[in-house]
Amino acid sequence: MTRRSPVSMSIAGERGLPAPSPDALAHSERLRSLIVERIGAAGGWISFAEYMQLALYAPALGYYSAGAAKFGDEGDFVTAPLISPLFSRTCARRISRWLSDTGTDAVLEFGPGTGRFAADALEVLAEPGSALRRYALLEVSGDLRARQAEQLQAVTAVEWVNELPRGFRGVVFANEVLDALPCERFVVRGEEWWRLGVGLGSSGFEWRVRPPDGAAPGDTEFVEAAKQRIKDLAAQEQALPEGYCGEWHPWLDGWMSALSAAMDKGVVLLADYGLPRYQLLHPDRMQGSLRCHYRHYAHGDPFAYPGLSDITAWVDFSAVAESACRAGFRVAGFTTQTAFLMGAGIEQELQTMAAGLDPSSPDYLSLARGTRTLLLPGEMGESVKFMMLTKNIDEHEMLDEPSFALRDLRDSL
Ligand SMILES: C[S@@+](CC[C@H](N)C(=O)[O-])C[C@H]1O[C@@H](n2cnc3c(N)ncnc32)[C@H](O)[C@@H]1O
Repeated sequence: MTRRSPVSMSIAGERGLPAPSPDALAHSERLRSLIVERIGAAGGWISFAEYMQLALYAPALGYYSAGAAKFGDEGDFVTAPLISPLFSRTCARRISRWLSDTGTDAVLEFGPGTGRFAADALEVLAEPGSALRRYALLEVSGDLRARQAEQLQAVTAVEWVNELPRGFRGVVFANEVLDALPCERFVVRGEEWWRLGVGLGSSGFEWRVRPPDGAAPGDTEFVEAAKQRIKDLAAQEQALPEGYCGEWHPWLDGWMSALSAAMDKGVVLLADYGLPRYQLLHPDRMQGSLRCHYRHYAHGDPFAYPGLSDITAWVDFSAVAESACRAGFRVAGFTTQTAFLMGAGIEQELQTMAAGLDPSSPDYLSLARGTRTLLLPGEMGESVKFMMLTKNIDEHEMLDEPSFALRDLRDSL
């Protein structure tokens, strides 16, 4: 989420990025006009969350809703399931175990992207003895749904759902979905946090700061969320300096309560780039964690090529834990990707997949490369975190979960 762009952190403006094709540029201009209209209708200012919602999810035009390649070499970024099948297979071993331990039989995957995770995970989940009876995919993007159907055409056990299934019993999985939810941006002004939104200037979209004085939709919620964060940081003897910019995900609470309302019993496994609150909102990160990905360039300008560039912000896992607890979940685990995958048995999975391969063969080298990218601290190993939530699970049903025992980071939340 977010995402890993092989050409790393070259922060560039629109003109510093590779030029899109004329068709892609025309598409971006249509989306730009729609957002300009919205800003005009709102009196000259919209929140950054509204801008991001339109840029990523406006019907037929947003980055995820429309046909840009997005994933893989021809796209803008790669995610863990595309880096190596080891990721999905290792997660699937634990998911399979949780289904049988808790007497449940369904998996629901949120935001499946290309469908690669499901394709690889289902090889493990379909092994003899597995409790799985139903694998459902929930995807907001029609374009990605079509790609998932193509990826999974040989698999009969999957189905697509438009909303959370009622009375769900099983495991919910979401990789790099929370950081694709629209985020609110703020800037520190004296003792207060002000809203950083989007207006129109002579050369296009511009950042516009305003105090949350009740005149714009969402101001009241913004003030509440800011107060809570200022109080939490003060408890850690931390204050953010003047001019600091940061983000949070305002729809997290709603997402979590809808998930809990739909769930009778089960486990939620979330994986995303992120940190506990006091590490994420830290003076070392004066410009926050907002990042855009376009043709494998990671850049910092969300106004460059709207609809052609991914936008993402790191997840505040303290906020995820708070929303989860309010919604009736228990935070059963929080750790790094490396610790999760090691605890979940990636080494055994690697041995199985590498068995019989010549160490100089392309398949072996690709497995080795993928393992490094998933596990090395400077790659995804430390920056991606895993969180496990449970609902209506008795302690005795899931004993000593090894995937979170190796490095329990819940104290840092
Ligand atoms: C960065 S991609 C990650 C895709 C995939 N999980 C992976 O790891 O490759 C984010 C995905 O979440 C989807 N998405 C975003 N908001 C969603 C929502 N509210 N419900 C379901 N899917 C959502 C996007 O359309 C996209 O498929």
